[in-house]
Amino acid sequence: MRENPPRRRNKPRRDDAKRASTALPNNQSDQAALRERVKELTCLYGIAQVAGRPGAPLDRVLQEIVQLLPPAWQYPETAQARIVLDGRAYSTPGFREAGARQAAQIVVNGGTRGVIEVVYLQARPAAQEGPFLKEERSLIDAVSRQVALVIERREAEDDKLWLRDQLMHADRLATIGQLAASVAHEINEPLGNILGFAQLARKCPGLPNQASHDVQKIVTASLHAREVIKKLLGFARQTPPKKALVNLNQVVEEGLYFFQGGCAKTGIELVRSLSADLPDIVADPVQLSQVLVNLVVNAMQAMPKGGKLTVTTSASDGCVSLIVEDTGIGMSQTTVRKIFQPFFTTKGDGQGTGLGLPIVQSIVSAHGGSIKVQSRPGRGTRFEIRLPIQSPKPEKDGDGDPPLDSVSKAPGGTYGGAPR
Ligand SMILES: Nc1ncnc2c1ncn2[C@@H]1O[C@H](COP(=O)(O)OP(=O)(O)OP(=O)(O)O)[C@@H](O)[C@H]1O
Ligand SMILES: [Mg+2]
Repeated sequence: MRENPPRRRNKPRRDDAKRASTALPNNQSDQAALRERVKELTCLYGIAQVAGRPGAPLDRVLQEIVQLLPPAWQYPETAQARIVLDGRAYSTPGFREAGARQAAQIVVNGGTRGVIEVVYLQARPAAQEGPFLKEERSLIDAVSRQVALVIERREAEDDKLWLRDQLMHADRLATIGQLAASVAHEINEPLGNILGFAQLARKCPGLPNQASHDVQKIVTASLHAREVIKKLLGFARQTPPKKALVNLNQVVEEGLYFFQGGCAKTGIELVRSLSADLPDIVADPVQLSQVLVNLVVNAMQAMPKGGKLTVTTSASDGCVSLIVEDTGIGMSQTTVRKIFQPFFTTKGDGQGTGLGLPIVQSIVSAHGGSIKVQSRPGRGTRFEIRLPIQSPKPEKDGDGDPPLDSVSKAPGGTYGGAPR
């Protein structure tokens, strides 16, 4: 029988020592890798928590997510991050476009909407992607997918709310329409009398100054009330559009003609940027010019001290766009949410009836189009109307005349009716 072997295990042999010497760095690198994975998981967990917070505005969510990124990278002391979404940037305080950069695009519903970037402001040793690790590539890709999901979810929620608002709005409009039509007719006649008699009284010889001043106030107020009723009737009538083949450029050219003088007087630079090859659309030209006029008047009223008014037309994705942009007073988000409500106005002293944009909205939806509003207080406002390019089915006469309801597109030609 063999004796117990000497306790060799306690005395490291040369190959044990060798194994240990290689095991140590492995161990260290394993630990380092583990630390990196923990950082990545912490980052993803943080993002999930921020994104899951109900009711938090998207701006705040993105700003919080961007703060979570630098600590998850290998060199957090020199890492900075930025998320750009729809041209708007959210970044860590020290972010600069410098040094090494790792980026991933934010793709929402198949479209690129922005980018997530992590930069090292100081040089760091080379790894798999510049100084960045391949795991960091996976992480930034995962973060971009998470952010895209957050955006998709938020937008779906917004759409749901918007749809609910639209239903309530449509309900209100229908009620207002019925009421307006009957009330407006009742009021029109006495109002005409008030206006007529006030105008007569104003002409009365020897009228004391104070009385003349007061009568003038009656005339002004009656004219305003008449304007409100006119718009209300137009709004309540909700006549179906009389569609014809229209070129939006022509509507814009003819409509803007009337505003040139007014713009020049108030120091507004009027810029047209009309697409050279804009396709015709099937639409009611009178209603389209009403849309243009309402938007342009609003834009001018938003720039009492002058500014720039840009009217653009373009075509893309089966739609033509009319964009009216100003550099005026802009609107807060709270105001933007209310602008399509009938009678919502911020214009005091009888200047606004609050029906301009509801009329625009009802015309645009009757044409199957959409409206997008972007506004920033003190910076300006941009309205984009998109109208579908429907393929008209021309009903030609036997002799090949143009369709009966087509619109003359010759220079100086007119539409079926004069702009209201
Ligand atoms: N371009 C713009 N810039 C800033 N605010 C705007 C702009 N367009 C609309 N608004 C805001 O939206 C409100 C509603 O506009 P809307 O055209 O419906 O009514 P209104 O201009 O007040 O009156 P009106 O019936 O005479 O047009 C305005 O009172 C204004 O506060
Ligand atoms: Mg208006």
